Amino acid sequence: MSKRIGVLTSGGDCAGLNAVLRAVVRRVCAGGGEVVGIRDGIDGLRARPIAAAPLRPADVECDGAGGIGQGGTWLGTSNSGDPARDPSAQARIRAAYGELGLDALIGVGGDGSLRLLRGHASAAGWRLIGVPKTIDNDVAGTDLAVGHASAVAAATDALDRLRTTAESHGRVMVLEVMGRDTGHIALASGIAGGADAILIPEIPPDLNAVAGDIAARHRHGHRGSLVVVAEGVPDPAGAAVRRRDPGGGAHYGGIGERVGRAIAAATAAEVRVTVLGHLQRGGPPVAEDRLLASVLGVAAAERALGEDGDCMVGWRNRAPCGVPLGQVAGRLRRVDPADARVAAARGLGMTFGEGGA
Ligand code: F6P
Repeated sequence: MSKRIGVLTSGGDCAGLNAVLRAVVRRVCAGGGEVVGIRDGIDGLRARPIAAAPLRPADVECDGAGGIGQGGTWLGTSNSGDPARDPSAQARIRAAYGELGLDALIGVGGDGSLRLLRGHASAAGWRLIGVPKTIDNDVAGTDLAVGHASAVAAATDALDRLRTTAESHGRVMVLEVMGRDTGHIALASGIAGGADAILIPEIPPDLNAVAGDIAARHRHGHRGSLVVVAEGVPDPAGAAVRRRDPGGGAHYGGIGERVGRAIAAATAAEVRVTVLGHLQRGGPPVAEDRLLASVLGVAAAERALGEDGDCMVGWRNRAPCGVPLGQVAGRLRRVDPADARVAAARGLGMTFGEGGA
């Protein structure tokens, strides 16, 4: 019997989501199923009428508005959080699956969205297949999440651009990148972009030691320095640094300024700080993300056409794999300080600013 598969994108946008949608629609329809696209993530399930419409392969053409080369998600998304405190919203979300006549739901999301969706799925008996996406690359159970490679490419490009000012003026250029509580973007872009210091939450830096390492570089004749710092690096008191957004909410941000001030106090060099912000989330996906999105989208569609549920399709050992959602939701994948890339960065002479080493 023909299966009716729902699909939604949830949480912060990133590059590669449209490629996942395209792969899901093409594979489900080729398998004799039909796809229902749910707008604006979990908000679409909460709305009445439910914000959903059928999707056909013609809706996900490569050259269309939501084509494989477009960033963001043309289905829309939201990260407005958990409506758990509103029982009627909760009930509407849980009833939507049945009201839409779904046989399975493919949820493309990060750690927070997959946890929320799994809560609804287990309470309401949905068959849920997750696809990991987030620039942060902090979803457990997968080596890679859709969107990370494009963010790393953007941060690497930013470091390349900052190097010209570092070297022309003999300045210290500090780049603050995203990543929430993890340093995957900072580590990968720091190596690829040739940073002199890579500061990540998993190896909490001593800002005086960072400043000392940079000052030593300049004493030894280096003209400029590049420092990349993950937004989740704690301040000297051990707390994450947050900035108020115009709407009054608080988001990670501001550690770059503190790192810059510490370095300025220890060197004669001028210091400038750049916060990359959402520039690393937007724009077209790099080829690696389009490829990952396509492979995981097809794998998720095949599981949805079958009988699987309560699982995520991850990427391990250069192949897609099924991971029980119980091993994903609520668990963060952090940078392992014993990771080969950390060792490589040290081998390249980059400092993590630990001090005392
Ligand atoms: O999780 C993705 C992410 O981009 C984080 O790296 C960042 O801290 C956060 O989302 C920003 O969220 P918002 O788009 O709501 O400002």
